[in-house]
Amino acid sequence: MHLGRTTLSKFLIQELDGRNESRDLAALLVDVASAIKAISAMTAKGALAGVLGSLDTENVQGEVQKKLDVLSNTAFVNTFQRGGLVAGIASEELDDPIAVACSKPCQFLAVFDPLDGSSNIDVNVSVGSIFSILPSPKGREPVLQDYLQSGRQQLAAGYALYGPSTMLVLTVGRGTHGFTLDREVGNFILTHPNIQIPIETSEFAINTSNERFWEPPVQRYVAECKAGKTDVRGRDFNMRWIASMVAEVHRILMRGGIFMYPKDTKDLTKPGRLRLMYEANPMGMVVEQAGGVATTGRKRILDVLPDQLHQRIAVILGSRDEVERLERYHQEYDTGVDQRYSSPLFKERSLFQ
Ligand code: AHG
Ligand code: MN
Ligand code: MN
Repeated sequence: MHLGRTTLSKFLIQELDGRNESRDLAALLVDVASAIKAISAMTAKGALAGVLGSLDTENVQGEVQKKLDVLSNTAFVNTFQRGGLVAGIASEELDDPIAVACSKPCQFLAVFDPLDGSSNIDVNVSVGSIFSILPSPKGREPVLQDYLQSGRQQLAAGYALYGPSTMLVLTVGRGTHGFTLDREVGNFILTHPNIQIPIETSEFAINTSNERFWEPPVQRYVAECKAGKTDVRGRDFNMRWIASMVAEVHRILMRGGIFMYPKDTKDLTKPGRLRLMYEANPMGMVVEQAGGVATTGRKRILDVLPDQLHQRIAVILGSRDEVERLERYHQEYDTGVDQRYSSPLFKERSLFQ
């Protein structure tokens, strides 16, 4: 009955045959999958395993850590340390990167968000993990600066979704592919090859409690979606917000949509909520490889050169038509084309009029 099914290992052998570097990348992604299986088992047990609730510690970003944030981080760290395939790791839950001893010259760095959407844990709503694999410098131990590569350099990226079923969605730069965990057997099976994000959509996702802090182009876009048939969009829109980027991105990969966590003025020290290196970049690659677009509103996310490991960034991603429309609204705001929503610099009696 299971003959002919494509397991993750079989898929990676076929996808990454040839050079040694590719073989090691395939082996590394199998390691990633084994950490994900361990986290999947923990999240599924929930209260039975005593893993719910918070600790009294904070991560480097001042966020209270959930028990599962730390347990998931440990699962990834142990897997990478035992696997001997990465030269270093960096995580949302680690202040600084950790160098890893390699049995042979290691070519990779792994950067990850071990548990995404962790505010959902205690209410038993979907959470996930996000990972990004970058090239490591050759012939020496990596230093912090070596991690600060743009998303374009990623060799592989993906996420796990711990939902009603556990899924692993990944890309090695040749399309985005989804695998479902067959729990009894312990295999990830290719169930969603070559995922394509629908180009058009009528579904948007944004935390509207932040509306007063958004920039005018985002306010304009969301106002038009909400007005639906009665305004310029000419059709009604639906809204979703799960508070787990993994679950939002997965929904968009399955049926289209736009996800926004834009720049806002809520906390002027933070240029966005999500983190560039282990949230925006890997999700940007997954979305682009599925035919979607990932932008800050003003720049392609994968083109941003990081200057800090934990830096935050505005994220707008999903179906091409909608994301490009919102990019246009940013441009019209910045250049003063649309008076209703243009920058104050371009309004009547302003500096430039
Ligand atoms: P994390 O749990 O890794 O800190 O990430 C949570 C992120 C992201 O997944 C989600 O989109 C967003 O935070 C939710 O933010 P709000 O609580 O502001 O809705
Ligand atoms: Mn996260
Ligand atoms: Mn997290």
